[in-house]
Amino acid sequence: MAQSSPQQVGPSSSGATLAEMDKLLTDEEVERLIDASLSARLNAYCPYSKFQVGAALLAKDGTIIRGCNVENISYGLTICAERTAVCRAVAEGQRKFRAIVITAEMGSRFVGPCGACRQTLVEFGLDWEVYLATPDKRYMKTTVGKLIPDSFNPEWVTLGERQEG
Ligand code: THU
Repeated sequence: MAQSSPQQVGPSSSGATLAEMDKLLTDEEVERLIDASLSARLNAYCPYSKFQVGAALLAKDGTIIRGCNVENISYGLTICAERTAVCRAVAEGQRKFRAIVITAEMGSRFVGPCGACRQTLVEFGLDWEVYLATPDKRYMKTTVGKLIPDSFNPEWVTLGERQEG
């Protein structure tokens, strides 16, 4: 993904249709979600990498669910912030999301979610917003579908009977 210069994209500047506007986050919602992600980041358990990551999901009913990375001495067991947030959300009965903010300190760059996390997000739809943000609250906006094109996803794959409930 191109690491473009920092963007501040709000509904007013997007040129979106009315239907699209309905889905877009307001500047206030983005700011609140960034703050939630940054506060979650402070809880990161990352004694090995020392790389703190925070995530905040906005569910369609307005609930915010936070996550941070949780590392393990058996390194491969590490769970990223995004997946922590998704698992917490699902455990709380949330499956429909409008957006996720992911925050990490990467100098002039924005954090790019790992492949496993992209796949985890795709499970819950392609058409929702992802904000990659920094501790000083710069961000770039993308979508789940753009982060993982041509994905293996439940909308396009039939594996026998899919349990919806
Ligand atoms: N990490 C995340 O939590 N999310 C990402 O998007 C990238 C990587 C974590 C995993 C590990 O604890 C640390 O960052 C270094 O890889």
